[in-house]
Amino acid sequence: NQMLTWQRTGFHFQPKKNWMNDPNGPLFYKGWYHLFYQYNPGGPIWGNIVWGHAISRDLVHWHHLPLAMTADQWYDINGVWTGSATILSDGQIVMLYTGSTNETVQVQNLAYPADPSDPLLLEWVKYPNNPVLVPPPGIHFQDFRDPTTAWYTSDAKWRIAIGSKVNKTGISLVYGTVDFKNYELLDVVMHAVPGTGMRECVDFYPVSRSDENGLDTSENGPAVKHVLKASFDDDRNDYYAIGSYDEASGTWVPDDPKKDVGFGLRYDYGIFYASKTFYDQDKKRRILWSWIKETDSEAADLRKGWASLQAIPRTVVFDKKTGSNLLQWPVEEVEKLRLGKKSFENMELEAGTVVSLELASASQLDIMAEFEISEDTLGRVIENDVDYMCSNNGGAARRGALGPFGLLVLADKNQTEQTPVYFYLAKGADGDIKTFFCTDQSRSSLAYDVDKNIYGSTVPVLRGERLTMRILVDHSIVESFAQGGRTCITSRVYPTRSIYDEAQLFLFNNATQAKVSASVQVWQMSSANF
Ligand code: FRU
Repeated sequence: NQMLTWQRTGFHFQPKKNWMNDPNGPLFYKGWYHLFYQYNPGGPIWGNIVWGHAISRDLVHWHHLPLAMTADQWYDINGVWTGSATILSDGQIVMLYTGSTNETVQVQNLAYPADPSDPLLLEWVKYPNNPVLVPPPGIHFQDFRDPTTAWYTSDAKWRIAIGSKVNKTGISLVYGTVDFKNYELLDVVMHAVPGTGMRECVDFYPVSRSDENGLDTSENGPAVKHVLKASFDDDRNDYYAIGSYDEASGTWVPDDPKKDVGFGLRYDYGIFYASKTFYDQDKKRRILWSWIKETDSEAADLRKGWASLQAIPRTVVFDKKTGSNLLQWPVEEVEKLRLGKKSFENMELEAGTVVSLELASASQLDIMAEFEISEDTLGRVIENDVDYMCSNNGGAARRGALGPFGLLVLADKNQTEQTPVYFYLAKGADGDIKTFFCTDQSRSSLAYDVDKNIYGSTVPVLRGERLTMRILVDHSIVESFAQGGRTCITSRVYPTRSIYDEAQLFLFNNATQAKVSASVQVWQMSSANF
């Protein structure tokens, strides 16, 4: 049944069948990248969670391995939940994960490889005295999960953070440990934000203020800023903030209190949840993994027999130019999948036009596009759209003076199905231009039971910069990156007509005044091996 199989992707990580959620314990060891993940071996909906396991040499081609851990102990019989890996200075791997006990209490457990000389890390041993941590006084027994990778401090102790909440205040608890078996809870809460709710999958890591490379999780000092990220189960989004970590007091404060964790910046303004970074000591970079759920119906997932993808792993660095956000970019290895390139240079798009970009097929693509509007037009346009938002302004169909313009991906030849990825410029009363980056799913599918929201946010554009976007298209997923990864949008779309060779690509300019000049490079992407 083509309807059910075409939605599987060509180069995104997914198990052969059944349900997957969070990435767990990613690490690089003896030449292999390891990805563990939340997995239901029994079907395509959440439940019976154990750890799936896969390895790769290059983060592109994967080998599926047997389950790494199953629910076989009283302290994880209701689920082997999310966890993180720490590599000690002697190369030893420590895995900490949450178990849901026989009484559905959330506890933290320790596991380690049975044979450290095995590069595949096939067998895992659970520490006989698990659990190593139970919910502390004042914390609800089901609000205590997802331990971070540990970082090393100057008092010769490791610290880990665990997400929780007290009433409606989202918090990160911090523990100190020497041996990963015994822990002490630090008196201070590392960071708390009232009104934000339960924090799942907390992540905490340094980024360099000066260098391009990523940093080991224990790195600290004046050249470093610290990112704190949490996943909020209320609104199912991953929020991060950049700030300063004071090791002595054990607390972290955001640079901009108006953009704190839970209501400020998001990694991604589409579908992107329960993400986790790790430091790749081989290539000296920090890599972000994330669970991308389905946005069709559960009935459709049951028919398909599988649910969820992992995002293409992204490198994460501090954006030195803006000083206020991260830059996320698909790992360079993905470019190995690029086949023939087609270039469309300096295409002049009059206001209100759609131009076809002729390709043999457009269901697996890597697209890089640049757009320019003349200074003249920008100067001439008067104040408009001061309250613009991607989500509630009619999407790509609504015409303004300076937008929308961009690409229609996964469109059929008549564009009855189309997913526009676009910029929209709004000019404030002060003359300042605000740039929005959006993805409009409202016409992405003729099916009625799929998510048709319009996603997006603002993107910082500095003086003299062109507007740039990169889009990865892979059958039922579209990952979009604006201005080198300052603002990202991932969406799941389920076209019924624009599939395989019926899928096409168009440039569009739906502005009323702006003439836009566009240059596009497009690569067909080959499929990865699984
Ligand atoms: C996030 C999450 C985690 C938990 C795991 C269970 O998606 O709910 O908090 O550990 O998934 O599968």
